[in-house]
Amino acid sequence: MSDWRHRAQQLDEQDPLKGFRDRFLNRTDEIYLDGNSLGKLPLGVAEEIQEAVQEQWGHNLIRSWNDSWLAKTEQLNEKFGQLLNASSKEIIVGESTSVRLYQITQALVNAKRYPPRLVTDSLNFPTDVYILDSISQQAYGVPLTQIEYKESIEPNLEQLQSKMQSEPGIYCLSLVTYKSGYAYPMLELNKFAEAHNSIILWDLSHAVGVLDIDFKATETKVAFGCTYKYLNGGPGSPAFLYMATDLLEQTENPIAGWFGHARPFDFGIRFEAAEGIQKMAIGTPSMLSLIALEKGLDITLEAGLKAIREKSTAQTAFLWELLHSRLASFGLEIESPESSDHRGAHLSVSHSEAWRIAQALQKGTPAIIPDFRPDRFIRLGIAPLYTRFQDLLITVDRLEAILEKKEYVIFSTKKPQVT
Ligand SMILES: Cc1ncc(COP(=O)(O)O)c(C=O)c1O
Repeated sequence: MSDWRHRAQQLDEQDPLKGFRDRFLNRTDEIYLDGNSLGKLPLGVAEEIQEAVQEQWGHNLIRSWNDSWLAKTEQLNEKFGQLLNASSKEIIVGESTSVRLYQITQALVNAKRYPPRLVTDSLNFPTDVYILDSISQQAYGVPLTQIEYKESIEPNLEQLQSKMQSEPGIYCLSLVTYKSGYAYPMLELNKFAEAHNSIILWDLSHAVGVLDIDFKATETKVAFGCTYKYLNGGPGSPAFLYMATDLLEQTENPIAGWFGHARPFDFGIRFEAAEGIQKMAIGTPSMLSLIALEKGLDITLEAGLKAIREKSTAQTAFLWELLHSRLASFGLEIESPESSDHRGAHLSVSHSEAWRIAQALQKGTPAIIPDFRPDRFIRLGIAPLYTRFQDLLITVDRLEAILEKKEYVIFSTKKPQVT
């Protein structure tokens, strides 16, 4: 047995989280490395949705709002608070990440608490940049700047901080960047922002469920993110929004829908904001999606973010070392940080034939499912709740064979809509 195989086997045997894999639907002929886009289905969700559809919607109909649905939304807020260390008056589940970013950016611009300037960087996810840009175009005198770094993998923190010093304002960053998986030092940047009359809106989409995030310990004021990646909430599952109490008190909801009203069922004609984060609610909660989300959240709470982050760090280090020692000579570049302190849970590699290599991975046995991001990136997403060390080794074995024998040449360069 090779050294690598022996090591992978040992690491899997000693893994304190190994039992969690059986809580998900796993296909025997497949290695899924795309939990950073859409997490796996937790067992039991299908039955719960079936029950919610048949009984709660089908038979109980409108009565379900009072019987269980409104309470369910509160329970979910509480569980998110427990996960990320926030009070349930500071965190709310619902709407999409894009809507939440629009809402809080507009709320902060309106509040005039920070200088009227929006700043993001070239590593941020496109939807964030588009939304900031749309606000900048609509709000008179609120420019948007996008910081460009020399490196495409990591930010230059000195450049970022010096920008904040000279141009304080409303900054938006993805805690873990979508392309390279770089993780920013959250506490250090929050402190710096606070000292320089700025605020950072953290997009946690690629971080929640894999980084050991604590809103109080990191002095975070605003954060939001999606739940369909490492939290395994299901396709398009609702996002979450966190706002620290002091900031909530200084902001209004710019999309003041009836669910943000103190008494929505009074049907009053004037808006009166609800207390705490509830005032940031907009419309009717998407109950079926919220019900689907709970199981993944429960599993994450049970495993604990600390243990998940520990395993994630060990797995990205294992894969990094494997990629570096076995595949560098084939022109496959690692596009993720070497230091685990600055790494999220996915590793990116690049190659001029990345798309065809990704197809060769998917069409082999076992099928290996990564994702592809233009123009030459393959992302290997590691979800510690169900990815095994041996999965990573098999992936690198396959990549080596594909590159060595140029197996990818038979695949088309044409791409479907979702890659
Ligand atoms: C970092 C980041 N932000 C925002 C989004 C978009 O979220 P939504 O489609 O829920 O608006 C994504 C989607 O993958 C993302 O990765």
